[in-house]
Order: sequence, then C-alpha cells, then structure tokens
Amino acid sequence: MDDRTAWIQDNRANWDDRAALHEAAGYGVEELVADSSRITAEVAQDRERLGDLTGKDIIHLQCHLGTDTVSLSRLGPRRVVGVDLSPASLGRARTIAERAGAEIEYVESDVHAAREAVAGDFDLVYTSIGVLCWLPDVAAWARVVASLLRPGGRFLIRDDHPMFMAIGEDVSSGLRLEQPYFEREQPLTWDEAGSYVPTPDTAPMMAHTVNHQWNHGLGEIVSALLAAGLVLDSFEESPYSAWCPWPELMVREGDRYRLREDPDRIALQYVITAHRPA
Ligand SMILES: C[S@@+](CC[C@H](N)C(=O)[O-])C[C@H]1O[C@@H](n2cnc3c(N)ncnc32)[C@H](O)[C@@H]1O
Repeated sequence: MDDRTAWIQDNRANWDDRAALHEAAGYGVEELVADSSRITAEVAQDRERLGDLTGKDIIHLQCHLGTDTVSLSRLGPRRVVGVDLSPASLGRARTIAERAGAEIEYVESDVHAAREAVAGDFDLVYTSIGVLCWLPDVAAWARVVASLLRPGGRFLIRDDHPMFMAIGEDVSSGLRLEQPYFEREQPLTWDEAGSYVPTPDTAPMMAHTVNHQWNHGLGEIVSALLAAGLVLDSFEESPYSAWCPWPELMVREGDRYRLREDPDRIALQYVITAHRPA
C-alpha cells in the first residue's frame, strides 16, 4: 500500500470513530429533526451566496453526518447527493435524513474518486468547514469539483483559513506560526483521542486516534480552481470560526467564535464562489 492510501485509510477509521463521538455530542441533530424549517448556521450564512436552489441538482462533498446536507435539501433542490469517506458517518447521515424527512442519496467515496462514484452532473457543488485539511492534493480535488459541475454550474466552499491552520496548538504564549502554510507532500500526523466538539461522558472511547492533515495556501486553492477551468465569482475572508480551538483566546458570538482581542489580526475562514463556464 502506498503512503497516501495508508493515510486516507487512517483518516477513514478516525472519522468513523469521530462520527460516534459527534452523535453523542448532539451535533444539532435533534433540533434539525424537530423543526422541518430549520437549517444549520453554516448553510444559513451562505443562503444568498447559494442563490435559488429550486429544482437544482446539488452535491455536498465531505458531508459527514449530513446536517448541512439536510439543510440544503430544505432549500428546494430536485436532487441532493452527499459524499463522504466514512461509512459510519454516512450510516448516521442516512438515519438523520430519514428522521428529518429528507430525500438524500449518500455515497461512500474518497472525494478524489467522487466523479467515478456518482452518476450525473450538478448545478451546485458545496463543501464546508474542516474539509480541505483532510485532502493531500488540492489540484486533484479541484479537478474533481469541476468534473461534477455541468456547464454554468456553481461551486461554493467555506473553510478554515490556511493562516488559522498554520497556528500551533499551544497558544499559551500567543498566536505563533508553527505549522506549514503551503501544501506539503508529507502530512502533519496527530494522535488525539478527541475531536473539535467537547467529548460528552456518553461518547465511546476513540480507538483510531491517528489522523493526517494537510494545509493548502490560498494561492494554491484559487490557482487549483482556475487551472480546473472554473471562473472565480467571489472570494471573502472572515475573522469568525465555526469552532473554538483556543478557548483562552476566543469568545462566542451567536453561532461563531472570534479572537477576544483584536480579532482583525487574522482571518479564520474564507468563502469562495466560482462557476463552470456555460
Ligand atoms: C470536519 S468534517 C466536515 C464537517 C461538516 N462541515 C459538518 O460539520 O457536518 C470532515 C469530513 O470529511 C470527511 N473526509 C475526510 N477525508 C475525506 C476524503 N478523502 N474523501 C471524502 N471525505 C473525507 C470525513 O469523513 C468527515 O466526515
């Protein structure tokens, strides 16, 4: 087995364990099931950027438990597909969709193989929050995104900013750049028994704690999308994050987090919209 296959295999096992942990943590699932008009905060903030989805065919890459996928399905599309590497995430996503009354096709696939795994073309490819850091090759990913779009189809990514990802774990002496900003062949390998949500007492112990991650610079991401033939429509950066890796330095504002002091020092997220020329 080559290194890349082994890394992805480790990540699949790690995400299967995280799926159980996230389910135990709640992950906003009950709220989504209880209220058929509810959509997640992640999708809500991009309502305008997503445009009118009535009658559209949409695909959500790296959909995890499918909370954002269910939300997208509530915006009127004709077909909704969710793709993820982790079978345990998708098993839960299917149950959640059924409980929420949402019709969604879930497909298990490495995102790099999504074009072969899914039939048909799409009006929208959507992916968000904590996605590119799991992928070794941003150029290959961008080619997959472009191949899934029909002419005129649109793409939206909202993700953690690569500067945010370049800050080290230990912020006791401030924000320090300790991890690579640019894409490297070798991943950063972590061994950690938790995830980005607090671990509830009811959560099963994680057995597969090793995971591998890659950073990708903004120039690399934009260049990859352009090289894949997409046209850039908008590119925004934001001082807000969907999660809180540094509780001692961050405050919550609504559903988001920002630095407590001088939040304008660093971007924590970016959003890109693009389209495939007609
Ligand atoms: C942070 S989650 C995305 C979360 C999503 N924003 C949410 O909160 O529902 C990352 C997802 O990427 C998936 N993933 C990781 N590597 C992948 C790959 N190579 N191909 C497809 N999915 C992958 C994981 O299984 C996980 O479900």
